[in-house]
Amino acid sequence: EVTRLWGGRFAGGPSEALARLSLSTHFDWRLARHDIAGSRAHARVLHTAGLLTGDELAAMLEGLDRLEADVASGSFTPVLADEDVHTALERGFIERVGPELGGRLRAGRSRNDQIATMVRMYLREQARAIAGELLDLASALADQAEANIAVPMPGRTHLQHAQPVLLAHHLLAHAWPLLRDVERLRDWDGRAAVSAYGSGALAGSSLGLDPEAVAAELGFPDSAENSIDGTAARDVVAEFAFVGAMTGVDLSRLAEEIILWATKEFSFAVLDDAFSTGSSIMPQKKNPDVAELARGKSGRLIGDLAGLLGTLKGLPLAYNRDLQEDKEPVFDTVDTLTLLLPAFTGMVATLRFNGERMAELAPQGFSLATDIAEWLVRKRVPFREAHEIAGACVRVCEERGIDLPDLTDADLAGVSPHLDSGVRGVLTVAGSLESRSAKGGTAPARVAEQLERLRSRIAGH
Ligand code: ARG
Repeated sequence: EVTRLWGGRFAGGPSEALARLSLSTHFDWRLARHDIAGSRAHARVLHTAGLLTGDELAAMLEGLDRLEADVASGSFTPVLADEDVHTALERGFIERVGPELGGRLRAGRSRNDQIATMVRMYLREQARAIAGELLDLASALADQAEANIAVPMPGRTHLQHAQPVLLAHHLLAHAWPLLRDVERLRDWDGRAAVSAYGSGALAGSSLGLDPEAVAAELGFPDSAENSIDGTAARDVVAEFAFVGAMTGVDLSRLAEEIILWATKEFSFAVLDDAFSTGSSIMPQKKNPDVAELARGKSGRLIGDLAGLLGTLKGLPLAYNRDLQEDKEPVFDTVDTLTLLLPAFTGMVATLRFNGERMAELAPQGFSLATDIAEWLVRKRVPFREAHEIAGACVRVCEERGIDLPDLTDADLAGVSPHLDSGVRGVLTVAGSLESRSAKGGTAPARVAEQLERLRSRIAGH
């Protein structure tokens, strides 16, 4: 039985090669629930416009309920001849309510406004779920920060020891971008919350149907201002993919650090057995696969965005079939994050940090040299000169194979008359941390406040 929605002007059916090329049910079937919700709203506006009797509307809604139940149970599924989710569902609807009533539902709508609306509905739902997962991850980082609140570590720039920081400060530095990703999803929702229903194929609907009534029923505060834009725009899909790609990149940066921390050379952290894997040949191996997969999948998420932008570039208005290519990449973004985030959060939540080792390494690599310079500044030495003096201290230490706190009074006096034993007071990790006490700094009191603020931001979402 032919289920095409456009047979009238064609002498024969499509070639098999075209049918296979055109087919989208293997990926757009996930929108079936949203499409049926759209059909319900559409039936109501047809009735409001006087195009359906009350009995017809009731019969339609009842048929849609049955269709939805059969889709949910899996007893109704698309067949090869169904071009897309819309075609399959129209077939299922007609099978349930008959061709007479079933044939009335399509009036005043097009697959072009349907798909533009369905994809927004679906992505809005998924955005909420992904935001929830991201908040769980940010909470796991906050918990780790709290559990390790007093642990100092070497802070790095250029991957070289720079200045000591608290591990908690460093962990929270990974949580804030994730919170911004959540906020990006919320902002995005404001732009996605516009229904395209009523745009028709491109020019708007002609039968006195109310787009705002459909929008409201489908959970959209607004409907499209412009029917061409409603059917042709996919920036909202690309923007979702951007947030997905940005999230992937944010995860990859933490993933890379966890991979480093778990090496023998760093020995900063130990992965839980449940979140690491072994080797088929080397019995001793314990591999950070969750972090590596996160790092790898960030490339894939970037690819989803890049592919989508490539599809959109140069497309004339309004709908073009190219737009069907929006769905696989953005669905891949959804699926990738949905798979990745729970595992990633589990890995973070179960990491065990080697606080002793981190604390031991915190002052190494002359990471307190800046503290010498700033001690001198407080003694009114110009910073330019103070920097030179502290650098000279490092040079002496390096020559003699000692560390900054090992410099004797004579060594200090030899470097500069401005230096005396008092400088040793700032040559401790605790003193260095304590001194970064302005807002946003790594001083323990500031980090505790920061943790509180992060927690309340998480709770506010
Ligand atoms: N499957 C199409 C898409 O995803 C929607 C249908 C529009 N097709 C058409 N021939 N006008 O964009």
